[in-house]
Formats: sequence, structure tokens, C-alpha cells
Amino acid sequence: MTSFIIAIDGFSSTGKSSFAQMIAKRMNFVYVDSGAIYRLVTLNALQQDLFKDGSIDQNLLKDSLESIDVSYEIKNSKSEICLNGVNVEKRIRMIDVADHVSLIASFGFVRDWVNDKLRKSVLGMNVVMDGRDIGTTVFPNAQLKIFMTADPQIRAQRRVAQLAASGSNPSFDEVYKNILERDYFDSHREVSPLKQAADAIVLDNSHMTMEQQMDWIMSIMREKFNFTFDEA
Ligand code: CDP
Repeated sequence: MTSFIIAIDGFSSTGKSSFAQMIAKRMNFVYVDSGAIYRLVTLNALQQDLFKDGSIDQNLLKDSLESIDVSYEIKNSKSEICLNGVNVEKRIRMIDVADHVSLIASFGFVRDWVNDKLRKSVLGMNVVMDGRDIGTTVFPNAQLKIFMTADPQIRAQRRVAQLAASGSNPSFDEVYKNILERDYFDSHREVSPLKQAADAIVLDNSHMTMEQQMDWIMSIMREKFNFTFDEA
């Protein structure tokens, strides 16, 4: 069976991963969070003390990739990412990782390493994957591409609430600044920048609930791809 791929790209904190997880559950697809792997590489570099004044030696970073083993642990029916056997799902969401991840994700050799893992991990499966370049670079032939955006102030409020729920409490200003910086960096880097694929459908969810988003995508899946769903 050919696999069906839903690629969700877009700006930071637009709710891509929550949306992707709900889609995966409703449609029985596998969910893959590509950003988590960039965050994991960043955490590993922080743990190895590779950053010096905000920059990093690329040879040391390259070497560090060889010592990374990525695996997943299923917890409450969600998969959580592990770095060399240690569950780091919460740790990689913290602000120190967020502050360094865009630099790490700007290196072509890191992107090749991550993309190889992403493509191999989902062979033959129905997948919903979120990130910055899934529809443009990782799976340019994805059947459905969605590009998510939302007002940056609303995104920062959502991210603060999400971080508070997992026990970390950065200020609104700190989170807002990080979001704007990452948007800029991700959209302007040389290798595989965040860019809307020509055939992507834009979803601005500034004033949408999760239920409205689900209705929106389910009607696309029904009307465009003849998918059928059990009623929720
Ligand atoms: O959760 P949020 O949308 O803020 O970010 P994420 O999906 O966890 O990704 C973290 C960072 O990884 C992004 O700011 C990008 O710099 C990078 N990333 C990327 O370059 N390409 C991807 N496919 C996914 C993430």
C-alpha cells in the first residue's frame, strides 16, 4: 500500500504538534515531530558544552552526531523521545534548548542527518509529520501539505500556557522574543528555510478552536481524498 503523508509546516508555536497529534489519533496515522529531533541534537550539544558565546564548532557538532541514539518510549499512548535511552521529551521543550535550536537547525549536515532518520522511520506508513520543511524538502510529494500561521502575540500566549502546564515558567516577553527570533532565523537561513510550499494550503488558526481545525481538515480529507471516518 502506498503511504499517505500529511506534511504540516509553519511558524513556531502555531500549534502544529497538537494539531498533528489529534489528526494522527482521529485518522489512525503515525505522528512524527521533526522539531523534537532538532531539539534533541541541541540538548546533546548543550550537555557536551559545545556552545561558546552563542556559536559552535561545526566539527565538534558533527562528531557529536555519531554518539546520538534516538529512540521513543510510549507513555499514555503518546510517543516520547529519548536521547541515548533517557526520556528527554520535557527537557527539550525548555527555553535554553529553544534559544539554541535554530542555530543547530541551520547546518546542512545536521539537516541531512535528521532528514535521513525521518524518511527511514516512516517507510510505507500513513504519517502526519510537522516541522519547517516537511512539504518542501523532506516529503515534497506529500499528498496533503498544510502551512500554519497565527498572530505572534497569540502564539506566545499559547506557548506560555503550555510551558506553565509542564512546570516551567518563563515570562511572556522571553517567550515572545524567542518566537520572533526563531521565525526570523528559520525563514532566513540558507539551507532549507521555512517557506510555504507552492501547493500547501494555508491555515491561520489565530481565532480557531481545535475542533474547528479538525472539522476543517476532515472535510478536506473527505472531499479531496475520499477518506471515510467513524463518527467521533
Ligand atoms: O514547537 P515549535 O513549533 O516552536 O518548534 P519545533 O517544531 O519544536 O522546532 C524547533 C526548531 O527546530 C525550529 O525553530 C527550527 O529551527 C527547527 N526545525 C527545523 O529547522 N526544521 C524542522 N523540520 C523542524 C524544526
